[in-house]
Order: sequence, then C-alpha cells, then structure tokens
Amino acid sequence: MRIVLASSEVAPFAKTGGLADVAGALPKALAKLGHDLRVVLPRYRMVDAAKHRLRPMLASLPVPVAGRTEIAAIWQGEIGPVPVYFVQHDGYYDREALYQTKDGDYPDNAERFAFFSRAVLELSRVLEFIPDVYHCNDWQTGLIPTYLRTTLHGAREFHAAGVLFTVHNLGYQGLFGPEALAAADLGHDLFNPFGIEFYGKVNFLKAGLVFADLITTVSRKYSEEIQTEEFGHGLEGVLRARAKDLHGILNGIDYDEWHPSRDPYIAARFSQNDPAGKAACKADLQRAFGLPERADVPLLAVISRLASQKGMDLVAEALDALPDLDAQFVLLGTGEPVLHQAFEAAKARHGSRIGLKLGFDVGLSHKIEAGADMFLMPSRYEPCGLNQMYSLAYGTVPIVRATGGLDDTIQPFDPATGEGNGFKFAGTTSEALLETVRTAVAVYRQPEEWRRLVKNGMACDFSWDRSAREYEALYQQIVTRRTGKP
Ligand code: ADP
Ligand code: GLC
Repeated sequence: MRIVLASSEVAPFAKTGGLADVAGALPKALAKLGHDLRVVLPRYRMVDAAKHRLRPMLASLPVPVAGRTEIAAIWQGEIGPVPVYFVQHDGYYDREALYQTKDGDYPDNAERFAFFSRAVLELSRVLEFIPDVYHCNDWQTGLIPTYLRTTLHGAREFHAAGVLFTVHNLGYQGLFGPEALAAADLGHDLFNPFGIEFYGKVNFLKAGLVFADLITTVSRKYSEEIQTEEFGHGLEGVLRARAKDLHGILNGIDYDEWHPSRDPYIAARFSQNDPAGKAACKADLQRAFGLPERADVPLLAVISRLASQKGMDLVAEALDALPDLDAQFVLLGTGEPVLHQAFEAAKARHGSRIGLKLGFDVGLSHKIEAGADMFLMPSRYEPCGLNQMYSLAYGTVPIVRATGGLDDTIQPFDPATGEGNGFKFAGTTSEALLETVRTAVAVYRQPEEWRRLVKNGMACDFSWDRSAREYEALYQQIVTRRTGKP
C-alpha cells in the first residue's frame, strides 16, 4: 500500500516527546512489510539540515491558507529506505521551539498547522503520490481528514484516499477561538457540535476524530479509558460515538536506537547474557550527576516532561524518603516552573542523594536508562509511555501507575513465582508511590530475586513488527471501505 505519514515531530529530526519516536520508527517497520511510505513534517529551526543531509526537492509549493496562498519549499531526507519530506516556511517554522515559548503557545498555531496539513495534501498532488491512506497523528494533523472530506471533497484524485488518525495524547487538542476557522480556510458550517466546534472553540483534534475513516490510540487500555469521563478530556462522547472505529495499538520501541548492546551514548555495552557492563553505566551516571559512586545504593530515575500528566508532583513529594531508603535519585526533565522549583527544593535538602538536569538531552536520556536501577512513571494518565519499555530493555526496573500503556506493558513482580517485569500501583498519592518504591527496594536487597526480575524485563520484546502488522490490517480495512475492494 501507499502510505503518507504526517506528524508534527519525527525522530531524529525534531523531537519534544514520544510522538517523534513513534513517527521515526513505525515507517521503517512498515517499509519492511513492503509498503511504499512517505513521511512529512515541518522544517523547524531545530532540524539540522547538514547533519541529516537534506536536499532541496521543490522550490515552490503553493498552499492555500487564511484566505491567501503561501509558498512552501520542500526538502528531502530519509529514515532508512523511507523518503522524508520537510515543509519549509520560515515565517511559520523558523522559530526557537516547535509549539511554544515559555510565555505560552505561539499565537498563530492554528494557522501554522492548518498550513502544514494543507501542504501535506498539496504536496501529494504535485508529486502524484496520492496514498491509499494518510496516517495522521495528533491535533497538528487533524485538518488533513477535514480538508479531504470538506474543501477537497470534489477533487477526484483524492476520492479513494483514506485516513487513519492516531491519538497520542487526548490532553492536547489544538483548541482555538472561532477566528481559527478563517485561519484554516474552513466554513462556519463546520462550527457545530457534529463538526469541529467544542464548547465555543475550534478543536483540531476533534476534527481528526470526526473526519477520519478509522481512529487508533497507542495502547488498548487507553482506547478504553478515553471513552470515559475521567480520561476523555471532554471528548469521551465523540469517541464513544465512534467506538466501532476506534482501536488500541500498543507502540513498539526501536531497538536500533535503544539497545544496551549497541548504544553509542553509554559508558559500557551490556546485554541479557552479558549484564556486567551495567555496573560501569551506573558509576558513569552517578559521576555525571555528581553523586557518590556507590554500587550498593538503589538508583532511582526519571526522564520526563515535567507536567501534571506525569505525576511528577508525587515524585517530588516522595523524595524526603531517600535517606531512609538509602537510595539515590536522578532526574532529566523540563516543563512546568512549579515542578522545577519543587525538585530544586528537594535537592537543596538532600544534595548528596539527588541529581537534577532541568533540560532536554537525548544522549543523557540513554545514559540514565542504562545506569539506573529503577525508573519511576507515576503518570495520572499515560496513552502508551515509551520509557518503561526502554527501561526494560536496559535492565532498569519500571515502577508505574496502572494506567494506559503502563498498565498494558508492566506486570507486577511476584517473588513467589519469579514472574513479572516491574512494580505497579493504583493510587494517586505520593504515599502509594512510596509504598511501591519500598517494595521494590526490598526486592533490590535480595540480589537473586532482583537478577530474576531484571532478566524478565530484558527478555520482553516490544519490537515494532507486531504493531506495524496491526496498523497494516487497519489500513487494509480502510482501503476496503473506500474502494469496496477487498
Ligand atoms: P510523552 O510523549 O508523553 O512525553 P513518552 O514516554 O511516550 O512520553 O516519550 C517521551 C520521550 O521523550 C522518550 O523518548 C523520553 O526519553 C524523551 N524525553 C522526555 N523528556 C526528555 C528530556 N528532558 N531529555 C531527553 N529526552 C526526553
Ligand atoms: C504521547 C503520550 C505517550 C505516548 C506518546 C507516543 O506523547 O503522552 O504516552 O507514548 O505520545 O505515542
């Protein structure tokens, strides 16, 4: 099949979170299955054209937006065998960050991503690469199915093109004032509850949910959760109405990028059968964070956006227990200023046990996965979560809240049977987290049991092949629906 995957971030070119990892890895897995893929993303300032050897492909692509025509230039690079197209428009994308400054979202985000969505469609016309399925991701691409089924409804070349829309996080919807309709060149007829209106606002994510042929999200558990009021962020009704077309497909992880036997960022290579190098990685990590180099302390870690979704307030509150547990803690993350302050304050109290890097650093994230003993993910909700799977691969034991993809991937360790790959709790308090950390530390102090647990984790296989086959089946379903051909 011919597939165009559109995403606002794609690793290794531009990344703020897990969406980039998925958009960078799934295309490779689909190409292996024999599909003809194209990936499209904006060319942000962050994209290093020299490093990735991008070439100019198309000097001038006219794209209608906000009642006028703006010109994009298209650059080409690749991920493995898959061509990747970068939509260049410096007015929209040559900026410090992808979506916001520290003062908030860019005020023209509706226009920036309406433009991107329309550019994806105009580009496929010019290249005469109209795919069987546009695989769209998150609110930034929600207008692709919208244009296909409204503005471009009469355009014959798009008739058979279907859309799979993947929700990576329902907490980010692309909500804008009604003026976004004009920015997106959409008519007021869509501004109603059955269209893209949402409590008086324009909602790009809802647009994707309404107009796509099929919808997926990134774990089975999250696909169920989001149909409830607790997790639906107000869109549970829309999702329930489309329940038959809504599927959960667990993300895979890219073992080419994330495997301790070949990771270029880490101090020593290791594997399930030859785990010795992990000790050197732990010492290296302690050094990197200026902590005492002790092999015997449990080293707890976090790599995260510092946002309330991730339950980081629970972690900050739990840190006063570190001396009692005789444990160390390292954190790599950036986000809400109150959380930065909470972690700084904890470090001021326990300087010899806490190491902080409040920033974004891909190399350091690999060192942490390799060097830590335990990884904390007490998320309030978690569509999939990748770090618990990276942790398993690196022999680092995940301690997670039982929600979304965390619940689907982590089974609690039972010392009696030796089964399980981590620790899991249900509560939403720092005490619930702490109690589970205490259980984990007790197992850590039993080296035989701990070795077994680590081994179980390293034996897990979350490679993309399986998920890619599930996407393939849904693409096929869409083609059958749109063409009537099996
Ligand atoms: P989300 O996409 O909700 O942030 P995921 O667990 O799916 O959560 O993916 C997060 C990805 O971003 C992982 O690859 C993680 O290592 C990475 N990441 C998060 N924060 C940082 C950071 N401060 N520095 C480097 N990588 C980070
Ligand atoms: C989102 C979710 C995260 C998921 C990622 C990739 O950012 O918050 O749970 O793993 O997308 O699908």
